[in-house]
Amino acid sequence: MRTHLLLIIALAITISSACRRETEPSSATSSPTASATASPDLVPAGITAVQNEMRLLHEAMRNCVTALAYGTLDSIPEGLHTVHRARELTEKALESGSYKLPKNPEKQLATFKDLDEQFHIELEKLAAVATSKDGAATGRQVGVVLSKCSGCHAQFKPG
Ligand code: HEC
Repeated sequence: MRTHLLLIIALAITISSACRRETEPSSATSSPTASATASPDLVPAGITAVQNEMRLLHEAMRNCVTALAYGTLDSIPEGLHTVHRARELTEKALESGSYKLPKNPEKQLATFKDLDEQFHIELEKLAAVATSKDGAATGRQVGVVLSKCSGCHAQFKPG
């Protein structure tokens, strides 16, 4: 009887500590894409030009959801312009060869540039509809932009 009781207590402790581990914030939840580590003016040391641009893009798209939720559509273009400026740094890095695509580097550079060009056209459309303060059209265009992330990542993003 005593042994059973001890076993039950031991089991309860194991289960509760396992549950605690699941709910504790893991290091993965501390955002690896914090805007503090990205800049539209200069690629910070330790990350690539595309990582820099992508971190700003991530922030800008998160802000789109907030802007749609709170009716602050006029905050959208600014974030997108930041991405646009960071893209100029990416282009320089691609031209100078200081950025090499982490996946499919040589043969796919033209494909990457093409996808990137199409993508930025959609970002420009998003800035335009947000400026016109059309919430429904902005929501739709946010959807169009988000639908493009995974295609390019599948071809070019490592991991
Ligand atoms: C034209 C191609 C392309 C498109 C479109 C694209 N990405 Fe990326 N993204 C990349 C590449 C390439 C990397 C890997 C960069 C590296 O590791 O140097 C990347 C990496 C990232 C990262 C990780 C950055 C880091 O800190 O390592 C985030 C976040 C990200 N993308 C967000 C997005 C989001 C959100 C979208 C859509 C709204 C998107 N990307 C659309 C090419 C793209």
